[in-house]
Amino acid sequence: MDRLSSLSRFKGMCPYLGRTKQSTLRSLCTATSPKYPTLNKLTEKATQCPVLGPVLSVRSKQVVAGYASLAGTADVKKIHEQKGVHLPDNAASADISMCPHASAAARAARMAEDLAAAKRKAAAKAAHAGQAKGDATAAAAAAAGCPFHAAAAEASKAPKKQAKPGLFDYEKFYNEEIEKKHKDASYRYFNNINRLAKKFPIAHTSDPKDEVEVWCANDYLGMGNNPVVIETMHRTLDKYGHGAGGTRNIAGNGAWHLGLEAELAALHRKPAALVFSSCYVANDATLATLGSKLPNCVFFSDSMNHASMIQGIRHSGARKVIFKHNDLQDLEAKLASFPKDTPKIIAFESVYSMCGSVGPIKEICDLADKYGALTFLDEVHAVGLYGPRGAGVAEHLDFQAHLAAGQSPAPIPGTVMDRIDIITGTLGKAYGAVGGYIAGSTEFVDMIRSYAPGFIFTTSLPPVTVAGAHASVRYQMEWMGDRKLLGLNVRALKKRFAERDIPVVPGPSHITPVLVGDAALAKDASDYLLAKHDIYVQAINYPTVARGEERLRVTITPRHTQEQMEKLVDAVDDTFNTLGIKRLQDWKALGGRAGVGLPDDQVKPIKDIWNDEQLGLLDGSAPKQLRAGEKHYVDQRAVMVTRSRFEKLLGKVEEAPKLRAGAPLGLVDARATAAAATVVAAAA
Ligand SMILES: Cc1ncc(COP(=O)(O)O)c(C=O)c1O
Repeated sequence: MDRLSSLSRFKGMCPYLGRTKQSTLRSLCTATSPKYPTLNKLTEKATQCPVLGPVLSVRSKQVVAGYASLAGTADVKKIHEQKGVHLPDNAASADISMCPHASAAARAARMAEDLAAAKRKAAAKAAHAGQAKGDATAAAAAAAGCPFHAAAAEASKAPKKQAKPGLFDYEKFYNEEIEKKHKDASYRYFNNINRLAKKFPIAHTSDPKDEVEVWCANDYLGMGNNPVVIETMHRTLDKYGHGAGGTRNIAGNGAWHLGLEAELAALHRKPAALVFSSCYVANDATLATLGSKLPNCVFFSDSMNHASMIQGIRHSGARKVIFKHNDLQDLEAKLASFPKDTPKIIAFESVYSMCGSVGPIKEICDLADKYGALTFLDEVHAVGLYGPRGAGVAEHLDFQAHLAAGQSPAPIPGTVMDRIDIITGTLGKAYGAVGGYIAGSTEFVDMIRSYAPGFIFTTSLPPVTVAGAHASVRYQMEWMGDRKLLGLNVRALKKRFAERDIPVVPGPSHITPVLVGDAALAKDASDYLLAKHDIYVQAINYPTVARGEERLRVTITPRHTQEQMEKLVDAVDDTFNTLGIKRLQDWKALGGRAGVGLPDDQVKPIKDIWNDEQLGLLDGSAPKQLRAGEKHYVDQRAVMVTRSRFEKLLGKVEEAPKLRAGAPLGLVDARATAAAATVVAAAA
């Protein structure tokens, strides 16, 4: 393990490190410093140590020279002459991406800078701590925070779990499994990101003062802090407390759960719906139950399906046939190879979350009709975002019919949404809450309710969460403005990336995947954006995407301002330059990757899900993109309708006179609104 071995070089210098457990060292040195991405946590913290700090300082000065000496100047020069590469004098400058040697030197220089910055920060912290505690020296205070001290103390306290001879060594097993992840570059690093409700889309890292812009969250509309959602949750929490009290079978089933299920059924114009603790659970439990109950059931599963569906199918024990992503010919050939009367389920998604492609829903319904299959559609990345009421892509495909039908819960025969047998969705993404659900026929839902262990044997969601989710769903059913604005922002962002030759995997949805094409580079890019630009975009690597298709998955919201968008595009551009990441033209020259830069004859035209007319671009009704300092619009009518759904349980909300006479709710701070609202008690 590279990092571990390089750190062990420092080991002899520290009286404490010698006693530190290997596993503690491993966890410290595999976690990346959120602020200095070229460093691991151990190295960053070590700058605070009185022994190692000075050593690292010297090392930071040597490091550029060290890297440069690796290659041998004469050799490098020769290669450069052969390849026609001319390096600027300053090896760390931004225009050296074409040269691997110069890029390595640039990385080394960044590491040196990071070390120096970490050291400066540690010194400042130590001085501060020294003053605060009245310690004799700042160094003593720094020593108190040294991870080696902490690790050594922890190691001496923790009981040592060593396998007895002849017995299975569990710790060794865990270590070996983790090692595999490091080896195939699929080890996951979680960033410490704390999204701030009042500053959306800003979050802080582990340090509450260190703020960053979030560009990859699935709270696609910012509903996690919508005023009416927060208000409803505050009121519910005060009246009903926190936990649900049990499973749905035992004390955990109430008006909140039933109310949300009725709303979700109405949203999809289906007779029934059922809420689960997440959509992962909903998909897993539903597919596992269906597949194990239906006699000789065969699943037809899109090759890009989410892990929750894959697991559900696996748990069912039923036969599975995988069809090529969105490939109707392949699906039909596979369906046709089974007898017509065999029970079949086609499991697929509307919006595929990592590439942003969209399933051919109508055409799959046609095949299902022809071959007698059930359709199971995951609308997780579409609910709240598409359709006039936010029911998803299936609703969007018959936009006018659904718009005209208003909020009637009755099915509209012949529409795509009506033809889908089972729809699943999440409350955890565009609705900004947590939870998942299925919607379908009364009998189907009742069967899952009665048999699915993942539904039955778990504590139900707390009323406060259900209330927040319900408020969010209803608000979005009433107000289309957020998803229209999202549609406009997505278009603008993709256009800005294209202008800078930044490769975006083409697709008709809101997902904006920026292709990097290399696991280490993708992580470096994400780290660099965070450290240099205070921008958080998570790198997506194998196994979530195929090797060589690693990417930064960018998600814009209606709440990002135009200035933030410009900053992001500049920052990504700088990241591509600094790290030497391939541009769209580079992929074109290579024949394309992940749909990026394909030869012209292979490019299929892509139409955005939201068309110009639906976005209001033809009649001038399109919402206005936000500028810095402007407040996001909250629709007062939608707020009133949403509140009215909860009057029976929570009573009426009477707005303070100031609010009634003043600006619409959309222009009022969420907390102020909640605080100013007077609750008039009503019999529940
Ligand atoms: C396509 C798809 N289905 C299901 C899920 C699970 O949803 P939840 O986050 O509610 O568990 C996800 C989550 O990312 C997903 O991407």
